[in-house]
Amino acid sequence: MTDLALVDYFSDAAVAQDPYDYFENLRSRGPVFREPHHGVVAVTGYAEVMAAFKDVESFSAVNAIGGPFPPLPFEPEGDDISAQIEAHRHLFPIFEHMVVMDPPRHERARSLLSKLLTPRRLKENEEFTRQLADDQLDEFIHNGTCEFLSEYARPFATLAITDLLGVPADDRAEFRRALGADKPAGNQVGALDGAPVGLNPLEYLEDKFSGYIAERRREPRNDVLGGMASATYPDGSTPEPIEVVRPATFLFAAGQETVTKLLSAAVQTLGDRPEFQRTLRENRDLIPAFIEESLRTQSPTKVDFRLARRTTTLGGVLVPAGTVLMLCLGAANRDPAKFEDPHEFRVDRRNVREHIAFGRGIHTCAGAPLARVEGLITVHRLLDRMRDITISERSHGPIDARRYAYEPTFLLRGLTELFIDFEAS
Ligand code: HEM
Repeated sequence: MTDLALVDYFSDAAVAQDPYDYFENLRSRGPVFREPHHGVVAVTGYAEVMAAFKDVESFSAVNAIGGPFPPLPFEPEGDDISAQIEAHRHLFPIFEHMVVMDPPRHERARSLLSKLLTPRRLKENEEFTRQLADDQLDEFIHNGTCEFLSEYARPFATLAITDLLGVPADDRAEFRRALGADKPAGNQVGALDGAPVGLNPLEYLEDKFSGYIAERRREPRNDVLGGMASATYPDGSTPEPIEVVRPATFLFAAGQETVTKLLSAAVQTLGDRPEFQRTLRENRDLIPAFIEESLRTQSPTKVDFRLARRTTTLGGVLVPAGTVLMLCLGAANRDPAKFEDPHEFRVDRRNVREHIAFGRGIHTCAGAPLARVEGLITVHRLLDRMRDITISERSHGPIDARRYAYEPTFLLRGLTELFIDFEAS
C-alpha cells in the first residue's frame, strides 16, 4: 500500500483531487514534518502554522506563492540567510508584489492599500455588490440551470474588484473579457501557479491602471482612482505611479480565483446537503457561520509558503536557515486539537471564526472583508431567487456517487466546474 505521506504533493494527481487524506497522513507524523521529495517542511498543526505566520524575524514571505518552485536562486550559507535573500529577492516570482515582501517594505506597500480599502469604500462597494449579484443572476436565472463558476462566481468576483477600484463603468466589460472572467478555469489572473495565460493579465492590468493614475495626476478628480493617485506613504512622500498600481492590480490576482472557489464550495454544500438550505432559509442569521465553515473546511488557499531566514525550531523540530516551509492551511483548519470533529461542517461551532483560511499576521488577507461580503450576498440572493438548488446529476452523478473535478494546482483548492439546477422563485 502506498504510504500517503511519501507521495509527491506537488505532482500527485490524486492528492490534488483530494488533499485531506494526505494532510491527515502528514499530521500523523507530527505537526511539522519534512516531506521527502522537495525537502519541504510541511506544517499541519494549527498552533504551529499560527506561530510561523507571526514570527517574521525567522520566516520570510519571499517564496509565499511559489514555495519550492523555482528552486532557491542561491545555496544557503550559515544560520542566517537574510542577506542572501535580499541580494536575490528580484529573482523570486512576483517579487514586486506585497504578498512576498518582508518588513519594512511590506509595511509601506500595505499602507497604500489601506488607503484604498477604507471602511467607507467597502461599504459603498457592498451596495454595488448586491446589485451586481442580481445582475449576474438575471443573465441565467430563467434557464433553471447553470455552470456556477463561469456564469456567476468568476464574473461576479472580478466585477466586485473592478468596482472597488473605481474602474470607469465604460471599461468594465473590457476588464471582464480581458481577465477571462467568463471562461472556464486556467486563464484568470489568479492562475498564479503555473498555467500559461493567453495574455498576461497582470501586465494588462498594470497598463490600464498606470493610465488611470497618470490621468488623475494630470487632472485630479475626487473618485477612487483620484484617491489612489494622490495617496502618500506614512512619511508623507509620494509613491511612484507603479508603486500604487501594483497593490491595486494585485487585488485581482488575490481576489478573483479565491472568491470563485469559496462561492462554489458554499453552493456545492447547499446542493449536496439540502438540510443546510432548509436551515439557512429558516434562519438567515446563520449565513455568516455557513460562510466561515465553507472557508474552514475547503480553505481555498490550501497551502502557503515561507522561507526560514535563520535556523530555528518550530513545534520542537529543527528548521535550518534556507528551509522551505509549507503552511498547510487546509490541514490546520481541520486540526482536531483546535476544532472538534474537524471534518464535520457545523454552523454551530463555538470557534467558527477562528479558522486561518485568510492567513494571519502581517500578511493577513487584505480582502477578507470583501470576500466575506461576497459570500454573504451570494448565499442570501441565491436563497431569495432560487427554490430547491440541486447539483446536476447529468454532470456530477447521483448524490451517493458524485463526480467532482478540482483544479490540479498545489496552491488553491476549488472545483473546475459546478453545474446546478434550480427553480427560479
Ligand atoms: C475566499 C477568498 C480569499 C482567500 C481564501 C484569501 C486568502 C489569502 C491568504 C491566505 C493570504 C495570506 C498570504 C500569505 O500570508 O502568504 C492572503 C493575502 C492577501 N489577500 Fe486574500 N484571500 C481571499 C480573497 C481576497 C480578496 C477578495 C482580495 C482583494 C480584493 C484579497 C487580497 C489579498 C491581498 C492584497 C493579500 C496580501 C496581503 C499582504 O501581503 O499584506 N484576498 N489572502
